[in-house]
Amino acid sequence: MKKSHLIITIILLSISTIYSQNKIKCIPATNFQTVINGRQTSLYTLTNSNGMTVQITNYGARVVALWVPDKNGGFQDVVWGYNSIQEYLKSTDIYCGPIVGRYGNRINKGQFTLNNTAYQLTLNNNGNHLHGGTGGFENKVWDAKFTPINGNQAVTLSYTSPDGEEGYPGNVIIHVTYMVTEKNELTIKYSATTDAPTIINPTSHCYFNLTGTAANTILEHKLKINALKYTPVTKGLIPTGELLHVKGTPLDFTKFTAIGKSINVTNEQLALGKGYDHNYVLNKKLGKMGEAAEIYSEQTGISMKVITDQPGLQFYSGNFMDGTLTGKRGDIHAFRTGFALEAQNFPDAPNHTNFPSAVLLPNQTYTQCTSYAFNIKK
Ligand code: GAL
Repeated sequence: MKKSHLIITIILLSISTIYSQNKIKCIPATNFQTVINGRQTSLYTLTNSNGMTVQITNYGARVVALWVPDKNGGFQDVVWGYNSIQEYLKSTDIYCGPIVGRYGNRINKGQFTLNNTAYQLTLNNNGNHLHGGTGGFENKVWDAKFTPINGNQAVTLSYTSPDGEEGYPGNVIIHVTYMVTEKNELTIKYSATTDAPTIINPTSHCYFNLTGTAANTILEHKLKINALKYTPVTKGLIPTGELLHVKGTPLDFTKFTAIGKSINVTNEQLALGKGYDHNYVLNKKLGKMGEAAEIYSEQTGISMKVITDQPGLQFYSGNFMDGTLTGKRGDIHAFRTGFALEAQNFPDAPNHTNFPSAVLLPNQTYTQCTSYAFNIKK
């Protein structure tokens, strides 16, 4: 090949690479501007100098889009979401990206006792309480303001949950700050106070697909969870109260393993969840920040670490999705096309004295810090 031809070929190849790079397409804030119960909703965009971009609405303190760098020099949006507030109003049942609570995960029959008083919470999941009930945090309009921290862009969302809401005691004030750091982390800091003894366990409920589209299942993703034990469940996905070893079971993710490797084997726990839907007991000191999990997609090279101070991590492999909802870019939210890694206390902790306490008293402040850190897997 002549030298001039070679140069032209190289130039054409470079141009085609640039054009094949997936570009960030932000959702306009106007798609999220409406009034719900007299309160204004909007969409807030946070970025860092690498271009990582997260879009958050104050409707449910919810992540709508999360663009992170891929191995080809472009960006992928790695979370499920919808293009407008109207679509969220139709689809709250799958908890797409919000902060869920007051109690994320399940409480058996929605019942618990605190200081000799029995409380009954809303029943919204096969006779049990799930993710704060039908009127939980995910469908409230939160107050929002930009709160930059050490040069990092951040937004703080606040909500006051009145005494008795969904059956919970105490007026609870909760603040959640989302921040994007220069190390490509999405850090979520929570704090909450109450004026009467109560229980609390909020968590972020994003569905991820690190291939950047729900057109692919999540079964090829390689996952590692820093847990030797999990809390087995019985019917309705309620913990039995035991802590069992993952070793020798399909729930063992102590080494990188494809999610799809053992998901269909005959196993009582997998049958109950129709796949993975289990709380892992994190192998670290209670209340200390540590790595909970790492997951990556070879297709995009995107790796995500979950770092948290929480004792548990719920791994849900999107088993209840039936493809009836269509999200951004026409993505059909189908069976096992998104996964959730929810840092939290154990499910049903108020009914198990051997689980970490979920009680919050008036003189205390609940705090949580969880980071989702993105890198390119070498
Ligand atoms: C998950 C939970 C699943 C399912 C899902 C919402 O957090 O573990 O069982 O309820 O939320 O569809």
